[in-house]
Amino acid sequence: MHRPDPHSYYDAAQPKARRLRLKLGVDFAAKRIDGEVVLEFGSAITGPLDLDTKGLEIHSVQVPGHGPIPWELGEADAILGSRLRLDMPQGAQEVTITYRTGADAMALQWLEPEQTEGKVSPYLFSQCQQIHARTMVPCQDTPNVRVAYQAEVNVPEGLTAVMSAGPTGDEALGNGRHVYRFTMPQPIPSYLLALAVGRLESRDLSPRARVWAEPETVAAATWEFAGVEDMILKAEGLFGAYPWDRYDMLVLPPSFPYGGMENPRMTFLTPTLLAGDRSLVDVVAHELAHSWTGNLVTNASMEHFWLNEGFTVWAERRILRILHGDDATALGWAMGQKALEDSLERFKSQPKLTLLRMHLEGIDPDDAFSSIPYEKGARLVAALEREVGEDRFLRFIREYMDAFRFTSITTEQFCAFVAAKLPGALEAVNAKAYLDKPGLPDTAPEFRSVQLDTITVLADSWVDGGRPSAHQIASWKPAELQVFLQKLPRNLSQADCAWLDERFQLMGRGNYEILVEWLTLAAAADYEPAFPRLREVLLRVGRMKYLRPLYGALGRHARTRALARELFAAASPGYHGLSRRVVQSVLETYPD
Ligand code: BES
Ligand code: ZN
Repeated sequence: MHRPDPHSYYDAAQPKARRLRLKLGVDFAAKRIDGEVVLEFGSAITGPLDLDTKGLEIHSVQVPGHGPIPWELGEADAILGSRLRLDMPQGAQEVTITYRTGADAMALQWLEPEQTEGKVSPYLFSQCQQIHARTMVPCQDTPNVRVAYQAEVNVPEGLTAVMSAGPTGDEALGNGRHVYRFTMPQPIPSYLLALAVGRLESRDLSPRARVWAEPETVAAATWEFAGVEDMILKAEGLFGAYPWDRYDMLVLPPSFPYGGMENPRMTFLTPTLLAGDRSLVDVVAHELAHSWTGNLVTNASMEHFWLNEGFTVWAERRILRILHGDDATALGWAMGQKALEDSLERFKSQPKLTLLRMHLEGIDPDDAFSSIPYEKGARLVAALEREVGEDRFLRFIREYMDAFRFTSITTEQFCAFVAAKLPGALEAVNAKAYLDKPGLPDTAPEFRSVQLDTITVLADSWVDGGRPSAHQIASWKPAELQVFLQKLPRNLSQADCAWLDERFQLMGRGNYEILVEWLTLAAAADYEPAFPRLREVLLRVGRMKYLRPLYGALGRHARTRALARELFAAASPGYHGLSRRVVQSVLETYPD
């Protein structure tokens, strides 16, 4: 037995599924999916087969020509769930499992109509990364295994289903139900399985890109993301032809717990990106970049997550540099630096979670999640790029993508490839220090620009009474204001807050990065005029990136702690299970 992924029961000595055929019946009343999955192996197999499940009710397991076969559901592990062991008969090429999802399936969030923009229909969306696919489908839930898939999704008439796959047709069943069919011909890891069902409309943005959203937001989304084809073209110029045919996007309801999720052919996005000025499209650049880094070349397990995210942050900033220039990119790196410092601070008593090459046996990957694989990882990639020069590095990246396309790899495989193609580069940048040592090496690349230096000087002078003049800030774009706010001291006075709001009109900002940065400062200052806006944001938005700092800052004063508890009690039924867990862990750090 060899289990290469600490977060899966997958046994490398056993055969890998090649393809899934799914039938999913979406039951909004019961908040369950009735599922049937056929795992195809592509050739005759036999013997034990271990699958991942979590909270699933297994109804039957059958092999064509053999009928029902023996199966056994193991004890439930809090992180991994239960191993489903099948005993495959001689010559079996596929197995069919019927099942029902559990009441607390972490992959699924079931929304009441009131939690949607239109407030008339329920909504369902999935989020399988890191290890939640097993709460939706019994499968080998590890990126060591890649599967093509086809699916039939049965939903109430009037609602639309989308998946991380291409649509192949739909039909009304005449009984109040409607079936949508999909196919994903390319092999993907299970964490990229994705489904959403709701009252949806779409608009074309280019011949290969389309945005989906509720009718109430589709116009705003169309405007915000109108530049996506240009991004795809720039990304293709860097990394080669777009490998997934279409690039469609879905704007979700505000409880979506992430900024974006790179589901192939259907990126999922938080509606908090709809700033009205296209200032937050870096998230789209990021999810688009995953089409190469992550979806095409994939981390073999969450222990190598930096191969997905570090590379993608680097790639995202490479795309944005072409679109918006060096100054804008330096600001992006500065925002990343802040996120990195916050994460290093959060994990200061768990330094092993600050390594790029992680050891996650017994650790829930959602608990290990932070900006470290993103930003420390991107700095390692940038260090290699600086070492060998941009042109040579880009040639290397293309070779890397060719060599490993549609495979899942470890840090060791990556290092061996670098050693072969860029001899000496790993040693020259001291890659070991990034991979296996905590914190950020002193030699990590820095990203500066005149504009960034000016903002830094201004923010640093705050404690001595320095205040930016109206003239100085007249030309600031949202990113500059965001970096300025991020660089201010964390313990502002209420008078400071009043001054900032007056000068920058912060309370009414539609750019959530700025709004949340501001509300974090205001919450930490116990600044009462910001409470109504804090209420609105915390009751509406479930994006973990915002909940963590906001609830964290509310922990500073007795009055704001009471507010936080009151808001969490009111908001938590509407939060995604993952978001609820994050907030709970923050509230547990409160002193009383
Ligand atoms: N793949 C991630 C989201 C993710 C990570 C989901 C881990 C589940 C577990 C996605 O690509 C991502 O990184 N999103 C970021 C945006 C980005 C610009 C850094 C986010 O959600 O904020
Ligand atoms: Zn990402």
